[in-house]
Amino acid sequence: MSRWSAADIPDQTGRTVLVTGANSGLGLQTAAVLAERGATVLLACRDPQRGRAALDRVRSGSGGTDAALVSLDLADLSSVRTAADEARRITGDRLDVLVNNAGVMAAPRRRTVDGFELQIGINHIGHAALTWLLGPALGPGARVVTVSSLAHRRGGLDPDDLSFEQRRYNPVAAYSASKLANLLFTFELDRRARDAGRDLLAVAAHPGLTDTELVFNTARMNSAGPLAHVVRWGNKLITQGVAAGALPQLYAATAPDVRSGEYFGPTSLGETRGAPGRAAASPAARDEHTARLLWERTAELTGVTPDPA
Ligand SMILES: NC(=O)c1ccc[n+]([C@@H]2O[C@H](COP(=O)([O-])OP(=O)(O)OC[C@H]3O[C@@H](n4cnc5c(N)ncnc54)[C@H](OP(=O)(O)O)[C@@H]3O)[C@@H](O)[C@H]2O)c1
Repeated sequence: MSRWSAADIPDQTGRTVLVTGANSGLGLQTAAVLAERGATVLLACRDPQRGRAALDRVRSGSGGTDAALVSLDLADLSSVRTAADEARRITGDRLDVLVNNAGVMAAPRRRTVDGFELQIGINHIGHAALTWLLGPALGPGARVVTVSSLAHRRGGLDPDDLSFEQRRYNPVAAYSASKLANLLFTFELDRRARDAGRDLLAVAAHPGLTDTELVFNTARMNSAGPLAHVVRWGNKLITQGVAAGALPQLYAATAPDVRSGEYFGPTSLGETRGAPGRAAASPAARDEHTARLLWERTAELTGVTPDPA
């Protein structure tokens, strides 16, 4: 796998993929590459204008492959429900790959429409609800790829205090917790799918350090003005390009030898860059007790029935 590149992706003709946060960074790259390889791609985006621009780019880059826009705001569970219904309708209830990619990082204390802390709300809770609502469309061999981060290793997660009500709020700690939740959710989904006898691959990936809008958006949320632009340019000095950064999630979404419960990331310089390979999940991410509590708590908070149960 060490020299695996996008050129190694098998023909995706006949496969249908939904990518969240597909208008920017890793999501746009993932959608564009999969469309080029022949997949029908649903771009799930919250902003209609940015979504349409991404749709045009994906269509033109793939020579007119089937692609469609789905409106999705992960910070609003009613939008998640509508998006899942829309995706099931468009695909005829057959989705081969769901890429839970969208995310925000180190946001100041803010809440989603449903009252969750913004990062756990968007990065984990919205994606968990979307995954469960799309469950009936995920047939034999389907994959759920969830994008985590090296930051998960610094994360502590309290399933009874997901929104940091009982602890002092720290934006970086809240991001790390949400990325830890992405891994706990993936591994629990893997276990539950196997227990239910479902042929479903639950897989995680991370991009190391990649040049996207993520850091710029963080800077914009935390300070207005030119500082955000300085941060954006500084970030370019320490990151790899988006084509390389998207490879672990593309590998997870398409490589034939991927097994459920695996986690992929770059393999060089402490997993910050380089060719994709198997990545190291922290002991906290492998904690089955916390994963079960997180799963149950997320179901209670969303009112969505988990699928598989
Ligand atoms: N870049 C890195 O070095 C890095 C490292 C580790 C992990 N990651 C992870 O990679 C994933 C993709 O991030 P990126 O680096 O590609 O950053 P990005 O360029 O900022 O893209 C993030 C995407 O998420 C979307 N999004 C944000 N809030 C949303 C919401 N409420 N509903 C729906 N979509 C929403 C954004 O939409 P808008 O354009 O409308 O805001 C955008 O399309 C994230 O999960 C991030 O945690 C990135």
